[in-house]
Amino acid sequence: MADMRVSFAGVDFKNPVTVASGTFAFGREYAEYYDLSRLGGICVKGLTPLPRGGNPSPRIAETPMGMLNSVGLQNPGVDAFIRDELPFLRGFDTKIIANISAPTPEDYALMAAKLSDAGVDMIEINVSCPNVRAGGMAFGVTCEGAASVTAAVKKASSVPVMTKLSPNVTDIAEIARACEDAGADALSLINTLLGMKIDPATGVPILANNTGGLSGPAVLPVAVRMVWQAASAVKIPVMGMGGVSRAEDAAEMIWAGASLVSVGTATLADPYAPVKVLEGLEKFLDEHGLTLEGMKGRVKLH
Ligand SMILES: Cc1cc2nc3c(=O)[nH]c(=O)nc-3n(C[C@H](O)[C@H](O)[C@H](O)COP(=O)(O)O)c2cc1C
Repeated sequence: MADMRVSFAGVDFKNPVTVASGTFAFGREYAEYYDLSRLGGICVKGLTPLPRGGNPSPRIAETPMGMLNSVGLQNPGVDAFIRDELPFLRGFDTKIIANISAPTPEDYALMAAKLSDAGVDMIEINVSCPNVRAGGMAFGVTCEGAASVTAAVKKASSVPVMTKLSPNVTDIAEIARACEDAGADALSLINTLLGMKIDPATGVPILANNTGGLSGPAVLPVAVRMVWQAASAVKIPVMGMGGVSRAEDAAEMIWAGASLVSVGTATLADPYAPVKVLEGLEKFLDEHGLTLEGMKGRVKLH
């Protein structure tokens, strides 16, 4: 059987399949379907310093092979997460990755300090949410913004730090390098692509926020391209996500340079999707005589 273990930024993952932030909440609903210890890791819903109710509805729309969301970081706040959700998650043998957003680098740093003390395994810095005005994507689309948040979080955190990049940029490689230079231990990408859907009869946008983030199978080729570009530009490891719903999609991500692969929107359609990707990947590796290390970043370019 293929060796599925991955050492990622100093953290030992039992396998390379994680679940993407915002599509798995805090795991409670999915724990009714299967043992969460089967997963390599869980990226929890994006946390903010204070509780947030999110954006007005409608905030989800179906699109061809994907979906738009403008949830806007609805969450109970970092303190409630540490008190009410983390003890439950710690009951499983899987890595817990806290995804954080805040209005200023200082606020990001305060959250990172609290979460490292509370015992999460990694911090994922969300500088790429397209659905909030303060913070979020505003930081992630410039080298200076992404680097300033990364540096502040790295200084405050006692666990490895991963910066989650926005695909809504011209040159992903330069942002990846800026985060690496600022001290990021790893990168994750892609967050959602900014999109819009309009009711053709009325001319009114479907989402109350007018625009939202596109995810799901439709974005896979964009995500694979960006993972390849980012992973080729840095030495730190990369967690790839965006449209992964099958083992073969995960394999593409790994060839492109991802060490870990995250499953997001697919889980909303099929709660078992991450487990199916994991089991399918194991079988795929065995059938093709491939290994994770042998594939990682070794795309055979023309
Ligand atoms: C409903 C929804 C909520 C999301 N919330 C967050 C979030 O809180 N923080 C974050 O970093 N990414 C969030 N994302 C982005 C996903 O984690 C992921 O990066 C993106 O959806 C691409 O992967 P996918 O196509 O597999 O879903 C969200 C995505 C969806 C669909």
